[in-house]
Amino acid sequence: MERKAEVKTFFEKTDIYFNFDYNIKIRTETVAELLGEAHYNNVLDMPCGNGYISLKNSDQFNQLSLVDFSENMIGLAKEIAAKENAQNVSFTCGDIFDTKFENEAFDLIISLGILAHIDDVDKFLTYIQSKVKKGGRIIIQNTNSDHFYSTLIRLYLGVRKLFGKDKYKLNKVPASTVESSFKKAGFTCEKVFRYNQSFIGFSKLFSNDKKYSLTRKWFGYVGKNKNASLGSDYTYLFKKD
Ligand SMILES: C[S@@+](CC[C@H](N)C(=O)[O-])C[C@H]1O[C@@H](n2cnc3c(N)ncnc32)[C@H](O)[C@@H]1O
Repeated sequence: MERKAEVKTFFEKTDIYFNFDYNIKIRTETVAELLGEAHYNNVLDMPCGNGYISLKNSDQFNQLSLVDFSENMIGLAKEIAAKENAQNVSFTCGDIFDTKFENEAFDLIISLGILAHIDDVDKFLTYIQSKVKKGGRIIIQNTNSDHFYSTLIRLYLGVRKLFGKDKYKLNKVPASTVESSFKKAGFTCEKVFRYNQSFIGFSKLFSNDKKYSLTRKWFGYVGKNKNASLGSDYTYLFKKD
């Protein structure tokens, strides 16, 4: 199967992804902390997954566009939007690069959990950088492939692969690739929050509540990021100068 089709097949099984749901809570709160009190007019969340992260923060947005190529994820996003009574939300089920917002630029783009999965990382970064207005912001997450914690996870996944238990290969994206791409495109990094997701394979040892409280205990919050150098997972707030 072509890699992109494998990625889609994986994310159509939404229950597997949401086994990590404490991490959705951390991401939702991280986005809220990065936004602070600011309000944004036109906001894009791409890829949105089940949309929870941006829908929970949508009081601060006038319009929110949600994009993902998984039909099941978009189905969940519609349910969550209805439950949250979110206003002015639009949904697009389609590939990131086929979804052309030709005449549209955004005040804020939220893009979490995509760089390890997308076919062409540079093309994706250039695309979102071009779709944000001058003075606008991008919140983007990346798992730094150069970090020791990522090396440990790759070793573990390598062993799993020997037993035939693996999905497609995740992209290796160093933090330096993301940071230099945004710098070159004329963005300033305003904030970054770093933490670790629970170790794949051991994640079932603890409940989601426990994993959440341990993460907060170890890494704190955006305003007070403890042990940041131990965190392989970076969530950045970039501003287009
Ligand atoms: C790790 S999840 C992240 C979802 C959400 N942003 C979050 O942080 O929970 C990755 C999402 O990217 C979507 N995705 C991956 N490649 C895509 C593509 N080429 N076009 C559109 N969506 C894509 C998947 O369907 C999946 O919902």
